[in-house]
Amino acid sequence: LGLLLLMLASALAGDAERGEVLAGLAGCLACHTAEGGAPGAGGHAVKTSFGTFYGSNLTADAEHGLGAWSYEDFERALRRGRDPQGRAYYPAFPYTSFTRLVEEDVADLWAWVQQLPPSPEPSLPHEVKPAYRGPAALGLWRGLGFRPGEFRPDVRRSEAWNLGAYLVQGPGHCGECHTPRTSIGVPKRAHALEGSTSPRAPDISASAEGVGGWALADLVAFLELGMLPDGDFTGGEMSRVIDEGTSALSADERLAMALYLLDRDAP
Ligand code: HEC
Ligand code: HEC
Repeated sequence: LGLLLLMLASALAGDAERGEVLAGLAGCLACHTAEGGAPGAGGHAVKTSFGTFYGSNLTADAEHGLGAWSYEDFERALRRGRDPQGRAYYPAFPYTSFTRLVEEDVADLWAWVQQLPPSPEPSLPHEVKPAYRGPAALGLWRGLGFRPGEFRPDVRRSEAWNLGAYLVQGPGHCGECHTPRTSIGVPKRAHALEGSTSPRAPDISASAEGVGGWALADLVAFLELGMLPDGDFTGGEMSRVIDEGTSALSADERLAMALYLLDRDAP
């Protein structure tokens, strides 16, 4: 039994370097670092039509950060969107995508998060519009907008396609910006990746209006460099997704994402 426990423990001990790559793709520091602030110490404002939400302190500070958290607390937050007391988080924290993360990737992210230097910054209170305050509104939203559950590969598809689907739907959380939402912020699953007005992000579905007309090589190059087929460079929030996220992936991972995006008949 001792040996088995030891093996289990080492299987769960994450790889912080891989965690850093995943964190870049998942935008953890982008949302959890104030301008000029310590990395991951919180304070970045996420502005939505439902209010302004502040990414909290993720550093190892015991009082204001995650210093007192267990791995289980972290896993529950990312994949089930609940705090250690069981209270639901607002979906400005994209756990709607992170719920797809496989256990190994959660462990790698945990290893990465634990080595963020502790910073004693108190997390800022959210400014939620009155209609959306309180557990009832959040409960309603979760019922409609949150489908918890790890990514399930489609066995009829290739390994590369499934890797791409996982990276897009899970850590890449591409749909958080690119999928249109209803007036109460519920993602329109039947129109996944077809473009959104809040935030304003273009259609990147496999149709002609999206990236359907792009050559595979152009899409791969875009994910590495941010260059559009016409030679222009992408801007705004997308340049950060490229710089901190997709450019740090392996060439195989970018190819897999492009394959999936160009051949996507399911959300
Ligand atoms: C789009 C912005 C955004 C991204 C990307 C994001 N977060 Fe967050 N996160 C938030 C917001 C906003 C909250 C606060 C939610 C609430 O209080 O209801 C939050 C809350 C959390 C919490 C709960 C903290 C606490 O003290 O209860 C954890 C843990 C967390 N995020 C980890 C992460 C990790 C790890 C990543 C990357 C894998 C990540 N977040 C990516 C915005 C984001
Ligand atoms: C934080 C929001 C956000 C996230 C997350 C995001 N995008 Fe974007 N994306 C944008 C915005 C905004 C633009 C438009 C940028 C501009 O105006 O130049 C864009 C542009 C693009 C374009 C260029 C489309 C065109 O026709 O010009 C592609 C392709 C793209 N994104 C793919 C992705 C993929 C793949 C992911 C997931 C890895 C992703 N995006 C994640 C916001 C986001």
